[in-house]
Amino acid sequence: MSNSSSISKAELIAAFSLTAGATAVGILVYQTFFSKSKCSKPKVNLDLQKDNPKVVHAFDIEDLGDKAVYCRCWRSKKFPYCDGAHTKHNQETGDNVGPLIIKRKERGRGE
Ligand code: FES
Repeated sequence: MSNSSSISKAELIAAFSLTAGATAVGILVYQTFFSKSKCSKPKVNLDLQKDNPKVVHAFDIEDLGDKAVYCRCWRSKKFPYCDGAHTKHNQETGDNVGPLIIKRKERGRGE
Protein backbone atom coordinates (compact mmCIF):
# COMPACT_ATOMS: atom_id res chain seq x y z
CA MET A 1 0.00 0.00 0.00
CA SER A 2 1.35 3.42 -0.93
CA ASN A 3 1.09 6.58 1.04
CA SER A 4 -0.27 9.83 -0.46
CA SER A 5 3.12 11.54 -0.96
CA SER A 6 4.80 8.91 -3.14
CA ILE A 7 4.13 8.14 -6.78
CA SER A 8 3.69 4.55 -7.78
CA LYS A 9 5.47 3.03 -10.76
CA ALA A 10 2.15 2.65 -12.58
CA GLU A 11 1.31 6.31 -12.04
CA LEU A 12 4.74 7.32 -13.34
CA ILE A 13 4.31 5.22 -16.48
CA ALA A 14 0.82 6.63 -17.00
CA ALA A 15 2.10 10.21 -16.61
CA PHE A 16 4.97 9.57 -19.01
CA SER A 17 2.64 7.98 -21.57
CA LEU A 18 0.21 10.89 -21.32
CA THR A 19 3.01 13.42 -21.77
CA ALA A 20 4.47 11.55 -24.75
CA GLY A 21 1.05 11.24 -26.36
CA ALA A 22 0.27 14.92 -25.85
CA THR A 23 3.66 15.86 -27.34
CA ALA A 24 3.08 13.65 -30.38
CA VAL A 25 -0.37 15.18 -30.96
CA GLY A 26 1.12 18.68 -30.59
CA ILE A 27 3.82 17.96 -33.16
CA LEU A 28 1.25 16.50 -35.56
CA VAL A 29 -1.04 19.53 -35.19
CA TYR A 30 1.90 21.91 -35.71
CA GLN A 31 3.08 20.11 -38.84
CA THR A 32 -0.42 19.94 -40.25
CA PHE A 33 -1.53 23.51 -39.65
CA PHE A 34 1.51 25.72 -39.00
CA SER A 35 4.60 24.29 -40.67
CA LYS A 36 5.37 26.04 -43.97
CA SER A 37 7.87 23.41 -45.07
CA LYS A 38 5.22 20.74 -45.44
CA CYS A 39 2.85 21.20 -48.37
CA SER A 40 0.07 18.70 -48.91
CA LYS A 41 -0.51 19.66 -52.55
CA PRO A 42 1.40 17.75 -55.24
CA LYS A 43 4.27 19.43 -57.04
CA VAL A 44 4.34 20.04 -60.79
CA ASN A 45 8.11 20.25 -61.05
CA LEU A 46 9.48 16.90 -59.90
CA ASP A 47 13.18 17.28 -60.66
CA LEU A 48 14.12 20.25 -62.88
CA GLN A 49 16.56 22.79 -61.39
CA LYS A 50 15.40 22.10 -57.84
CA ASP A 51 18.28 24.19 -56.48
CA ASN A 52 16.69 27.35 -57.96
CA PRO A 53 13.89 29.12 -56.05
CA LYS A 54 12.05 29.66 -59.35
CA VAL A 55 12.56 28.14 -62.80
CA VAL A 56 12.30 30.86 -65.43
CA HIS A 57 13.17 30.89 -69.13
CA ALA A 58 13.05 33.97 -71.35
CA PHE A 59 13.35 34.17 -75.13
CA ASP A 60 13.42 37.04 -77.55
CA ILE A 61 10.52 36.90 -79.98
CA GLU A 62 12.86 37.62 -82.85
CA ASP A 63 14.79 34.43 -82.05
CA LEU A 64 11.79 32.05 -82.06
CA GLY A 65 11.86 31.30 -85.77
CA ASP A 66 8.69 30.07 -87.49
CA LYS A 67 7.60 27.71 -84.70
CA ALA A 68 8.54 26.98 -81.08
CA VAL A 69 7.08 24.17 -78.95
CA TYR A 70 7.36 24.53 -75.17
CA CYS A 71 6.75 21.93 -72.50
CA ARG A 72 3.95 22.50 -70.01
CA CYS A 73 4.02 19.08 -68.33
CA TRP A 74 7.50 19.48 -66.78
CA ARG A 75 8.50 15.97 -67.89
CA SER A 76 10.57 16.86 -70.97
CA LYS A 77 14.27 15.94 -71.02
CA LYS A 78 14.79 19.03 -73.23
CA PHE A 79 12.89 21.41 -70.93
CA PRO A 80 11.72 24.09 -71.59
CA TYR A 81 11.16 22.54 -75.03
CA CYS A 82 8.63 19.74 -75.52
CA ASP A 83 10.09 16.35 -76.39
CA GLY A 84 6.80 14.45 -76.41
CA ALA A 85 7.12 13.18 -72.83
CA HIS A 86 3.63 14.54 -72.12
CA THR A 87 2.17 11.58 -74.06
CA LYS A 88 3.62 9.03 -71.63
CA HIS A 89 2.67 11.22 -68.65
CA ASN A 90 -0.93 11.45 -69.90
CA GLN A 91 -1.13 7.68 -70.47
CA GLU A 92 0.23 6.90 -67.00
CA THR A 93 -1.79 9.46 -65.04
CA GLY A 94 -4.93 10.11 -67.07
CA ASP A 95 -3.89 13.75 -67.31
CA ASN A 96 -4.42 15.80 -70.46
CA VAL A 97 -1.49 18.20 -70.62
CA GLY A 98 0.20 19.24 -73.84
CA PRO A 99 2.73 21.75 -75.13
CA LEU A 100 2.47 25.45 -75.81
CA ILE A 101 3.01 25.98 -79.52
CA ILE A 102 3.95 29.41 -80.79
CA LYS A 103 4.08 29.81 -84.53
CA ARG A 104 4.40 32.63 -86.93
CA LYS A 105 1.23 33.46 -88.83
CA GLU A 106 1.40 32.53 -92.46
CA ARG A 107 1.17 35.68 -94.42
CA GLY A 108 -1.31 35.71 -97.26
CA ARG A 109 -0.72 37.27 -100.60
CA GLY A 110 -0.63 41.01 -100.60
CA GLU A 111 0.54 41.35 -96.98
S1 FES B 1 7.00 17.12 -73.06
FE1 FES B 1 5.96 18.40 -71.71
S2 FES B 1 4.37 19.22 -72.94
FE2 FES B 1 5.41 17.93 -74.25
